[in-house]
Amino acid sequence: MNVLLTGGAGYIGSHTAVELLNRGCDIVIADDYSNSSPVAVERIRQITGRDFPAYHADVTDREAVRRIFRENKIDCVIHFAGKKAVGESVKIPLSYYRTNLDAALTVLECMKEASVSRFIFSSGSLNPIPYREDMPRGECSSPYGTTKAMIEKILEDACHADPALSAVLLRYFNPIGAHPSGLIGEDPQGIPNNLLPYIAQVAVGRREKLTVFGGDYPTPDGTCRRDYLHVMDLAAGHHRAACYTMEHPGVTAVNLGTGTPYSVLEVIEAFRKASGREVPYVIGPRRAGDLPEYWADAAKAKELFGWQAQYTLQDMCRDTWAWQSKNPQGYPKA
Ligand code: WQD
Repeated sequence: MNVLLTGGAGYIGSHTAVELLNRGCDIVIADDYSNSSPVAVERIRQITGRDFPAYHADVTDREAVRRIFRENKIDCVIHFAGKKAVGESVKIPLSYYRTNLDAALTVLECMKEASVSRFIFSSGSLNPIPYREDMPRGECSSPYGTTKAMIEKILEDACHADPALSAVLLRYFNPIGAHPSGLIGEDPQGIPNNLLPYIAQVAVGRREKLTVFGGDYPTPDGTCRRDYLHVMDLAAGHHRAACYTMEHPGVTAVNLGTGTPYSVLEVIEAFRKASGREVPYVIGPRRAGDLPEYWADAAKAKELFGWQAQYTLQDMCRDTWAWQSKNPQGYPKA
């Protein structure tokens, strides 16, 4: 199976690339490196000992995408490319709608021209807990989330119109960790928005202390609880989804998660143990828009894909630390 990964140099894309190559798949990467590094592509080759084509391409550029399908026999597309900062999307919504919708539509149209009919989309959802795949999409809290919901709807309509088309909507919440080699990992630009990159930068000495957003939530220790998932488990889920599309036309939504939420304080403690470093923190005010807790019901992934998360929170922290301690400033700048 030859899989095109749009946004394949990014955090989840690069780990999925490693998983696919190790499972014997061929891959092609397309990335514009706007929020990723070409060094990640070299590191994927280093980890797997395998070579593959990598295109420096913006997937809203129709000619660039056409060329990729012309030059490669693609069986399946895993679509990661897009803007993903929730807060930024509230400030520049038009840019988010333009980029994320244009990327998905351009890739889908070029797939149709090239008679490629399998598509995996990484998505999100906002529903009461625990999340189940058959709940209505409802209203999203940010333009970022709305672009995800709109693309899901587009895929449903496209699959309805074309019985040969097969799409999996993968929904996951808080991917963390890194490849155990520490050669690839999450490399946020500027001040990290997300918890684990922030903790890791405190532990490595790049930042003084973490601010815990809220200590008075109705949870066991007062801090928010999330379903953290090791990025290699997430990568394995993408591989299973790609295999699934080979035999199942139509559209289906599938959650990927551990089903077990951990609080911010539990994550800090796990990271302290895994790294042997202190993580100084203060409890600050709540962050606007945060829900007290949520986690995924991942029963469907087990039923359809035989997929279950394998890594523990301790593993996630150990591998985040392997990446951060080996690459304190992230990927080297070109
Ligand atoms: C986790 C917990 C914070 C930073 C978001 C998006 C989701 C996905 C991942 C895609 C929360 C707390 C955080 C800090 C803290 N996006 N926290 N201090 O908000 O669950 O999910 O990111 O790219 O779509 O919604 O993840 O890592 O930001 O926060 O206390 O400095 O850590 O309040 O409880 P979140 P997160």
